[in-house]
Amino acid sequence: MTAPVKFSNASRNDHDTVPLHAESGKTGQSADNKFRLLRGCWLFVMILLLIVIALALVFDRNLCRSKRSHNSIMEDESSRVEGGISDVISETKEAADGFRIVCYYVIQSNNTRSRILPPHSLDPYYCTHIIIGFSAIENGTLQPQNDDYLDVYKKVIALKKVNPSLKVLLSVEDMSSYGEFSRMISTDLHRTTFIKNAISFLNKTGFDGIDLDWEFPSWPDADLNQVKNFSLLIAELRQYVSKEAQHMLLSAAVAAPDLIIQQSYEVGELAKYLDFVSIMSYDYHMFSEFLPLTGPNAPLYPRDQELGYMRTLNADWSANRWLELGMPRKKINVGIPTYGHSFRLTNENNNGWNAPASGFGYTGTDGFTSYPDACKFLKDRKTNHNFDDSYQVPYAYNGNEWISYENELSVKLKAMYVKEKRFGGAMIYSLNSDDFYGECGAKKFVLTRTVNDILTSDDG
Ligand SMILES: *[C@@H]1O[C@H](CO)[C@@H](O)[C@H](O)[C@H]1NC(C)=O
Ligand SMILES: *[C@@H]1O[C@H](CO)[C@@H](O)[C@H](O)[C@H]1NC(C)=O
Ligand SMILES: *[C@@H]1O[C@H](CO)[C@@H](O)[C@H](O)[C@H]1NC(C)=O
Ligand SMILES: *[C@@H]1O[C@H](CO)[C@@H](O)[C@H](O)[C@H]1NC(C)=O
Repeated sequence: MTAPVKFSNASRNDHDTVPLHAESGKTGQSADNKFRLLRGCWLFVMILLLIVIALALVFDRNLCRSKRSHNSIMEDESSRVEGGISDVISETKEAADGFRIVCYYVIQSNNTRSRILPPHSLDPYYCTHIIIGFSAIENGTLQPQNDDYLDVYKKVIALKKVNPSLKVLLSVEDMSSYGEFSRMISTDLHRTTFIKNAISFLNKTGFDGIDLDWEFPSWPDADLNQVKNFSLLIAELRQYVSKEAQHMLLSAAVAAPDLIIQQSYEVGELAKYLDFVSIMSYDYHMFSEFLPLTGPNAPLYPRDQELGYMRTLNADWSANRWLELGMPRKKINVGIPTYGHSFRLTNENNNGWNAPASGFGYTGTDGFTSYPDACKFLKDRKTNHNFDDSYQVPYAYNGNEWISYENELSVKLKAMYVKEKRFGGAMIYSLNSDDFYGECGAKKFVLTRTVNDILTSDDG
């Protein structure tokens, strides 16, 4: 079960976390434990089914080698759906100007061991869009989560003086289905108040747009009125900015798992009014007590032996689902993480995919590992690493520690996928978990730069 959700504010402020679009639904690691209680019975049954499927795969591990080569990522025509019902390049303000490289920059609080990424370390050219995380809704209005954040907003916006075509957006986040977001959309008056307040604040501060990051409307409990009112909010936002602030971009961070996509969004409505959506195509697998098995954080494709629901847990599948449901290809950004997940193996000799795990690994925080964390792990000569030709991602292990992560090759393959399939661009989560000091030995921000290199080069 994947429900990509970011850490709650509390955990973001209290820990030395890699900031994340984390996942609370599956692991319960989010502060929001009520997620688990809210789940319906049917979901539990489904999880049991998943476990059965997954266990079957464990016994099938020797079949795991796939023949697909790195160079043939586009070969698998059979498993994808071309086009989607409205595969039209719609007129966003920026269509046709090349690919978007939408990077999340998360403001971290100032505590202890965190590797804070200061705004002056950001490069004005690696991304076409920087989305600053996160602001919150408070009393129905958009509020920086901390007074100091205003200063950071301004410093990031100042990068536009260097690169005038850079766009800076502010993300408004809510990790709960019945929190401030839910209250805000629930009446005409609340929506109008929020829209006026938010757009005025963003306009005054110098932002180029707003990113809606509600994880998730109508999930885990199905609530059709929430789905409809979320669409209304977006329609009304568009109506308002088209009159009052035409330069404002409207975007949303959206779910990757099929169940959430279908239950949470009217994709056709989102397609009409948003400039783009960024699919959170990661956290497909991480340690959880429901499915305590190793797996890839962000596979590009499935493995041949994955069946049923397991076969839907990859970026290619999610992106095609959004297409099928009516999101125009050019409005879709495919998510590329710079972080990974660590696991503690139950048996160090059982160390491939679907290997039983007993918890998060020691690397990272709650299993979330930044790219420098992964690099450090790889530098130990006893660490084994592999690249899976089906999933097109690496993994590594050493004793009981097992990590799924991204490297230059895996992000390159994902960027090539975006390019060859002519999606609107890539969304990178996040600049903070990339190697911003150059500790991995290569260039600073090497994963982000790799994506940039592919998507800005003219070939192909
Ligand atoms: C973080 O700490 C530094 C140095 O102690 C200080 O200058 C800065 O204002 C602090 N930032 C925040 C957001 O608290
Ligand atoms: C929200 O409302 C509460 C209670 O009226 C108040 O204490 C708080 O300061 C308000 N917050 C903001 C950001 O206005
Ligand atoms: C949705 O909005 C309508 C009117 O704006 C309101 O009557 C209804 O209660 C709302 N429902 C939810 C779940 O927000
Ligand atoms: C946005 O800012 C411009 C210039 O400061 C101002 O003229 C305009 O009225 C503002 N619009 C909104 C919706 O706040």
